[in-house]
Amino acid sequence: MCGIIGYVGSRQAKEILIDGLTRLEYRGYDSAGLVTLNDGAVIVKTEGKVDELKKRLENKPVDGKIGIAHTRWATHGEPSERNAHPHSDEKRQIFVVHNGIIENYKHLKDELIKKGHKFASDTDTEVLAHLIEEDYKGNLEQAVASALSLVRGTYGLAVISCLETDKIVVARSGSPLLVGLGNDENIVASDVSAIIRYTKEVVYLEEREIAVVKKDGFHSFSGKSAKDRVALVEWEIEQAEKGGFPHFMLKEIFEQPKVVEDSIRGRLIEEDGLAKLGGLEEVKDRLGKCERLIITACGTAYYAGLVGEYLFEEYGGLPTEVEYASEFRYRKPIIERDKTAFLAISQSGETADTLAAVCEAKRKGALVLGIVNVVGSTIARETDAGVYNHAGPEIGVASTKAFISQLAVLFLFTLMIGRQREMSFVTGRKIAGHIKRLPNQINSILTQDEKIKEIAQKYAKYNDFLYISRKYNFPIALEGALKLKEISYIHAEGYPSGEMKHGPIALIDENFPTIAIIPKDSVYEKTISNLEEIKARKGKIIAVATEGDEEIQNVADDVIYIPETLEMLTPIFSVVPLQLLAYYIAVIRGKDVDKPRNLAKSVTVE
Ligand code: AGP
Ligand code: GLU
Repeated sequence: MCGIIGYVGSRQAKEILIDGLTRLEYRGYDSAGLVTLNDGAVIVKTEGKVDELKKRLENKPVDGKIGIAHTRWATHGEPSERNAHPHSDEKRQIFVVHNGIIENYKHLKDELIKKGHKFASDTDTEVLAHLIEEDYKGNLEQAVASALSLVRGTYGLAVISCLETDKIVVARSGSPLLVGLGNDENIVASDVSAIIRYTKEVVYLEEREIAVVKKDGFHSFSGKSAKDRVALVEWEIEQAEKGGFPHFMLKEIFEQPKVVEDSIRGRLIEEDGLAKLGGLEEVKDRLGKCERLIITACGTAYYAGLVGEYLFEEYGGLPTEVEYASEFRYRKPIIERDKTAFLAISQSGETADTLAAVCEAKRKGALVLGIVNVVGSTIARETDAGVYNHAGPEIGVASTKAFISQLAVLFLFTLMIGRQREMSFVTGRKIAGHIKRLPNQINSILTQDEKIKEIAQKYAKYNDFLYISRKYNFPIALEGALKLKEISYIHAEGYPSGEMKHGPIALIDENFPTIAIIPKDSVYEKTISNLEEIKARKGKIIAVATEGDEEIQNVADDVIYIPETLEMLTPIFSVVPLQLLAYYIAVIRGKDVDKPRNLAKSVTVE
């Protein structure tokens, strides 16, 4: 879950490594370090964020035109200077940065200690440096290959050595790594955001591939040439910068109208009430024969999946169930070959649990589909077919615009399968017409930013919140609560409104505010009754309601209005005020919104 960057070329490596780390920091940020090679090795490491590393590097000569660097999200060993990467052998000749987990490190470490190796950290990663040293016979890539043959687990890896100062050896298994191809220089990274400033030509490493990267070339150990594998990155550097906003999260919230536009562009055929998802064309007939759909995801993407369940069952006539990927992978799912479709939803396309669920579903013969944001990511490659979100890079650890784009794609998906099955032309056209209007309508919610900030001021002092709703917006209650938890560390619970009386109502008093999502929909009256129950117990209520609904003001203390649309589309509106509310509460409480404690952007470990 960390960030890796490596440079080999004709410039000084330090600046590029630090710039890369800054851009990668959202992937892990408990400690950081780098090593460059010149006449010897210069290693600088620190606990804390990349800024700390920058301070350490001030006035320190760090020369060298080759180097590797890392920002860590600890799995083995506390976040500290000694556990920060790069790790090395005792002679300090071989240096390793690693993303992932070496599952059999304990056994390997014991063996190495028996052979006389002395360890300097508590990490699993360090065994790699010692193993490579053990196997080194004058060729670094050979040594890395034989070391990796002993390893069980996941890795994205970059290795350099004082003994061969012209090359970086890279490898991957279950954790992303790519090589950016430049002029007289090449850059290795775990994420494109670190390299788009320098080049847009990349080669994505394949599973279990080992490669040698030099100033003038990329050579795969497996013999595959780089030429026919070069992909062009479509993201622009501005997309990975804050562009005047104080935080990435706020910038990404404000990008949402554009994101929805990008997600639906060229895919909606309004006059026919249809959606055309290019990535699914090939499997459309197979999908049409499926009698059941299983959606799997984690976190925010899982909540998008829950909205999908309501959509697909009501408008697609397709029995659907949604399951946490971390559960799906270890139970015995019933999958009927050729009759079950499986849909993985993932922003990063690298989430380990989701990936494992994808592999399991494939093994069992399901038609495996994906909704993924990161092009070329592992899940995008492993699925039989899929749809890209086109949300652009999401840097804030708390997912916002990716979620909105997942919903947009799910709406299109619903149209596609609905019209293939039982949805009429008239209904299809009505839905398509409303989808088209979404970007502008989301804009109108964003204009209430100041008002939402004031509401945040009023409520930021509370330590517990309840989020409730029904039907399509029940998953949004869960998502709203997750956003608040993640970035402000406030206790928040999401519940279906109707479930409140079965327990959570016991929590309600004047210090436990409720956020109620209550659009004018088929269950409006039911939710109003639940709000009355809260009011009767002195609970404060912030309502997210439909424009023009004045009745709600009789029960709610504060109201945020969202535009009117079809009931099925309301989640894409109602989530926006909840994102802003969580954002402002966290800012008021002085939290690091973009890099919340203990979290990292893509969870490539179990
Ligand atoms: C969202 O705010 C989270 N940080 C997290 O729940 C995330 O949605 C989850 O880890 C899934 O990630 P993915 O979409 O990249 O698979
Ligand atoms: N398992 C390694 C460690 O704890 C790598 C963690 C990471 O991916 O940042 O150091």
